[in-house]
Amino acid sequence: MSTPRQIPNVVTIAGIDPSGGAGIYADLKAFSAHGAYGCGVVAALTAQNTQAVTGVHTPPIDFLRLQIDTLFSDVRIDAVKLGMLGTADIVFNVADRLAHYAAKFVVCDPVMVAKSGDHLLAKNAVAMVKEALLPQSFMITPNLPEAGVLLDQRAPESVKEMYRAAERLRELLPLSSERWVLLKGGHLPGGELMDLLFDGDRMVELPGQRIDTKNTHGTGCSLSAAIAALLPQAQGQFRPVEAAVRHAREWLLRAIAASGELEVGKGHGPVHHFHALWKR
Ligand SMILES: Nc1ncnc2c1ncn2[C@@H]1O[C@H](COP(=O)(O)OP(=O)(O)OP(=O)(O)O)[C@@H](O)[C@H]1O
Ligand SMILES: [Mg+2]
Repeated sequence: MSTPRQIPNVVTIAGIDPSGGAGIYADLKAFSAHGAYGCGVVAALTAQNTQAVTGVHTPPIDFLRLQIDTLFSDVRIDAVKLGMLGTADIVFNVADRLAHYAAKFVVCDPVMVAKSGDHLLAKNAVAMVKEALLPQSFMITPNLPEAGVLLDQRAPESVKEMYRAAERLRELLPLSSERWVLLKGGHLPGGELMDLLFDGDRMVELPGQRIDTKNTHGTGCSLSAAIAALLPQAQGQFRPVEAAVRHAREWLLRAIAASGELEVGKGHGPVHHFHALWKR
């Protein structure tokens, strides 16, 4: 008789987007869509809809730490997704607690700018991300502008430039242990779509099919959350990390394709996280 698989507990440490398309609420939907139990630690509150971010409010640092410590002291956490962290102080303290708990499968989405163009990470926090957070990260999932900021160069504009950027990004992560870069090419000019997955050894090209829609609010959040939910469940498979990323991307593609079934807001609408569940 086979033993039932263990349901992973996954936490997102990120911001809240009240419209539910991005941030913690979207992450919880992505966890749930992938058979993981979702927890959430609030690193920032935003006032936001599908068109704009109109305000940001961050919790006192002591309270942020209390949320993490209270959760981790009780719940076995199998993977962590990091999203909007806002300030250097928040970045430092999240990294500090993750190191303390030796957190596994930390997927760091280095959120800097919202789809609406609003800034979500203080400029002086980038150095702290590199110094404190990347050493704790199992995988980073920057988009092209974020890759440019992390590397202090202009954003890659072609697949060839993405190769070089993925190699340089991998050098920002600890070299002696298993670490991954997922460089997302959603911002490539023209119709081309390509993500690159790199562990320092093998470059995996993940070509995509661009769907013509404005409903791409939270695509990056949802993808990194799905990957965090799948990583603990993929262990034991052939090339588990690659399998988790491929599965998450296929799911996201269908979630973008089904986004038209939802009617949420007048701007960049959310993707349909439960397209496979809500049969109509
Ligand atoms: N129009 C599209 N059609 C299909 N796939 C897309 C589309 N736009 C983005 N993707 C895919 O969605 C994922 C997220 O990529 P993207 O580069 O948009 O992330 P992001 O900029 O971090 O998103 P966000 O604005 O939500 O933070 C990638 O796998 C990318 O290839
Ligand atoms: Mg993003």
